[in-house]
Amino acid sequence: MPSSRLSRRQFKLGAASLAAAALASPIGGPAAKAADGKLIIGIMLPLSGTFADQGEDYGNGIKLFQAMHGTTVAGLAVQTIIRDDQGPDSGDLARRLTQELFLRDKADIVLGYSFTPNAMATASLLNQAKKPAVIINAATSIITEKSDYFVRVSFTTPQASYVLGEWAAKHGIKTAYTIVSDYAPGIDAEVWFKNGFTKGGGKIIGGDRTPVSAMEFAPYLQRAMEAKPDAIFSFDPGGDVAVAFMKEAKQRGVTASGIKLLVTGDLVADDTLQLFGDALKGVISSHPYQIGIDNPTNAAFIKKFKELFGADKVPNFRVVQGYDGMGLIYQAVAKTKGDLSTTALMGAMKGAVIDSPRGKVTIDPETRDIVEPIYIREGKLVDGKWQNVQIDVYPDVKDPVKDPSVPK
Ligand code: PHB
Repeated sequence: MPSSRLSRRQFKLGAASLAAAALASPIGGPAAKAADGKLIIGIMLPLSGTFADQGEDYGNGIKLFQAMHGTTVAGLAVQTIIRDDQGPDSGDLARRLTQELFLRDKADIVLGYSFTPNAMATASLLNQAKKPAVIINAATSIITEKSDYFVRVSFTTPQASYVLGEWAAKHGIKTAYTIVSDYAPGIDAEVWFKNGFTKGGGKIIGGDRTPVSAMEFAPYLQRAMEAKPDAIFSFDPGGDVAVAFMKEAKQRGVTASGIKLLVTGDLVADDTLQLFGDALKGVISSHPYQIGIDNPTNAAFIKKFKELFGADKVPNFRVVQGYDGMGLIYQAVAKTKGDLSTTALMGAMKGAVIDSPRGKVTIDPETRDIVEPIYIREGKLVDGKWQNVQIDVYPDVKDPVKDPSVPK
């Protein structure tokens, strides 16, 4: 995958002058055609800072897709142009870089946005530019309502949290304490875990909100344990933050004390489990992907991942989202027979069915959000390796925030 990485300073200088130019002339236009025989995909990932590992994961998914499915589609040569939005606190940068991708680099579509603030900051730009973007991760429900040009291939935190709340209430858990990251996807997780849990008769007896990049969880876990809930529910954006949370939970013996740990899958990504060791035992999580999913697409995906990145490595859900994001774009371009106009691409992505390592997933044509299985998993030692083992599944889960059949 060609990479054009600039220094942060170059990014900022380039973006500032492009922003001025963009004000004078609207970007792109809705009816761009592949006159040059190319499909240009702008890629926006966190490649530096605390969450750089996550950027690498999505990037590996993109590479993996191209290694398996080639670098041409509908007769067009696929060119990827990668930009670093540096993580969660850089909405302005993400917006400027997106503008640069469309204006200077003539990207036909952008794939990226790991973090909610970056997707939110970009929404109005897409509306002005009338250009499409595929959200690779950012998981706050409202994002796709901020621009009609967003399509999301990941999940929403309400999707994972609501069914986990419902499952917990059904399985004898009566009280819970919530600990979530203090920003939009965390608030969404807190609200929707509570909705699912209380609907089933559960009671929330306390909660805390923690800094997005928190590395210190001792006070929160102490307060939670003192409240003596049946369970602690948690969401955070993964990576080193999740490792810090799980390590502290281990140190304090949360699960050993009889309190169930309920988390969204962000906290227990498959590639981090061996680090946690027996702290993972009995941890219940909900998410659209774990490596144990038994289908031919997942088997081929894992095989190729190991071939490319190492036999001892395993892919996590972020790799899957990069892979599926690329798959959705290829599928759309094949369907439009190389028509790269925004109208054609959006039309092709709405209602698309993706043959994902997660199972069959679809893009809801109304909301442009993904409809997918949410697996309930339990941390177990299997053949000497810690794993998220599927114990239940909710098929075809829609974002509950936008699902009229879900009571509000
Ligand atoms: C988000 O900012 O929306 C986000 C980031 C990382 C996650 C989930 C959600 O794992």
